[in-house]
Amino acid sequence: MIPREIIDEIVFRNDIEQVIGSYVNLRRAGSNYQGLCPFHSEKTPSFTVFAATKSFHCFGCGAGGDVISFIMRAENLTYIEAVHLLAERAGIDIPEDNSSQERETVSKKRILELNLAAAKFFRECLFDKNIGGEAMEYLAGKRQLNMATIKHFGLGYSPNDFTALTRKMRSLGFTDEELIAAFLAKRSQKSGKLFDLYRNRVIFPIIDTVGNIVAFGGRVMDGSEPKYLNTSDTPAFKKSRHLFALNYARKFAEQEMILCEGYMDVIALHEAGFENAVATLGTAITPDQARIFAKYTKKVIVCYDADRAGQMATSKAMRYLADAGVDCRIIKISGAKDPDEYVKKFGADSFRRVLGESRSGFDYRLEKILGEYNITLADEKIKAAEKICQMISDIPSSVERDICAQKAASALGLSFDSLKSDIARIRNRKLRDFKNKESRDAKLSIKNIGDRVNTDAAKHITASKSEEILLALMMIYDEYRQAAVRGAHGLSADDFSTAFGRRVFEVICELESSDGGYSRSMLGLYFNVDEVSRLEKIELERRQLSKNDNEVFAACIAKMKEEKQSVKDDGDEQLKYIRELFLKNKEQK
Ligand code: UTP
Ligand code: MN
Repeated sequence: MIPREIIDEIVFRNDIEQVIGSYVNLRRAGSNYQGLCPFHSEKTPSFTVFAATKSFHCFGCGAGGDVISFIMRAENLTYIEAVHLLAERAGIDIPEDNSSQERETVSKKRILELNLAAAKFFRECLFDKNIGGEAMEYLAGKRQLNMATIKHFGLGYSPNDFTALTRKMRSLGFTDEELIAAFLAKRSQKSGKLFDLYRNRVIFPIIDTVGNIVAFGGRVMDGSEPKYLNTSDTPAFKKSRHLFALNYARKFAEQEMILCEGYMDVIALHEAGFENAVATLGTAITPDQARIFAKYTKKVIVCYDADRAGQMATSKAMRYLADAGVDCRIIKISGAKDPDEYVKKFGADSFRRVLGESRSGFDYRLEKILGEYNITLADEKIKAAEKICQMISDIPSSVERDICAQKAASALGLSFDSLKSDIARIRNRKLRDFKNKESRDAKLSIKNIGDRVNTDAAKHITASKSEEILLALMMIYDEYRQAAVRGAHGLSADDFSTAFGRRVFEVICELESSDGGYSRSMLGLYFNVDEVSRLEKIELERRQLSKNDNEVFAACIAKMKEEKQSVKDDGDEQLKYIRELFLKNKEQK
């Protein structure tokens, strides 16, 4: 465990506004700061950093916590890793602790060291004529890559040998567990021996924006399957959160970026001078990746393969990018199956022209719908118009809606006014549905149904509310923590009806009784980011209406005990829950 004083020092020296400010554009709002939440897509800022409590909370998605939990979420790190990152940022040394349980699993740091050593080995193999001659011929000959490009991307070759990498890495001091955790080797079920996963493949290292080699892609040089082998998720890598070549592309990204499908597309485009190109890693684009784009650029030009799969994936990419607030444009290449083939066949100037002719998502979809119907027939025209109006009704800006309606009207040969009134009708219906759903969701959340953090809150509506308030008081004030540890009002862990409440109570008491005492910054060690967010939320709510705390504290304990007692009395929690819901509904009527 990292000593408590060091954690405090790390939190103290990492100013929360500055740390979060390097991820989010923050604007001052009174004594606090506001910005667009980095953890969900939004267009109006509901993400708030509170200066006084050194905490953050998003009123949209509920994420919240202190500077450590922010880093855990933003960088997808464990508590310990986040603490180390912040320590490094503030220039604080954390003393080595050899006894800790952190060593049980392979650390991210070791995997990155191993990946670096492996990448070096693969590169050496590629440049060794005896080993990598064929692979070099494939890359430089068949795929026509310059030597500079091959070096720039750190390409390599994994020899046609079951243990070449494993032997080399062992000789450098890496363990079998580390090789397995990094997805570089696997243990044979039969013999129990380790064997290399990448064999006889050209290797594409995947490098993050800090310069770490986080993963590899490996392509066969003939037609065998699978064509590409990619690193699965490891402690150092989550493929849904990386983009291939972002380490280079981000420097050329300010105006626009190009999103394509494959490693080879990106490499060919960079070689042809389009250094703002990136690709996802063998998967369709995820919302996380769409938000990465939003961080680096204003506009993304999607340039997927010309085949059916590529065109299907285009619609999805458009939706996610739009949700992330990125202006999305589309190009469809013809005469070649993918951007790689296109630049090789027609040259960079021709591709630049195609980029210039990129269409908005609307034009692209309009054309697609028009292609699906024969609009010379009345009933098909009606269906096409309905579909197009549906699509336009989702556009938030009214000016943009009108422009699109104009285009659609002329394409369909219908009047602008009739399309416009249809769009308005659809919009009104959607708004109404949305409001209904919202109030339904709100009702459900009042009843705590579907609470994933405190899973049994719904069974104990009153008690869980009291538990929350009590725990909030304990998190805010020393005196209530001390009172709890002392067992004031006879309070003990047994008074908790929900498992989550009980766990929080026990952790707070444990911390309070430990040498360093309680610190909110330590909660991340015991709870995951969603749980920390919940704790942050209940603390925040309490701070906003803090009065009569002594009476409230005692009343909460009384209520909790009452719940425990009554559950004991009728013995059937489910029944009680249903009765309570029934009574609540009656009250409301
Ligand atoms: P493509 O089949 O279009 O490959 O798959 P490519 O990048 O154009 O490669 P070349 O030109 O045939 O050499 C697009 C991407 O999908 C992933 C890879 O990330 C690839 O770059 N993929 C494809 C896999 O992960 N596994 C596969 O077996 C195939
Ligand atoms: Mn290709």
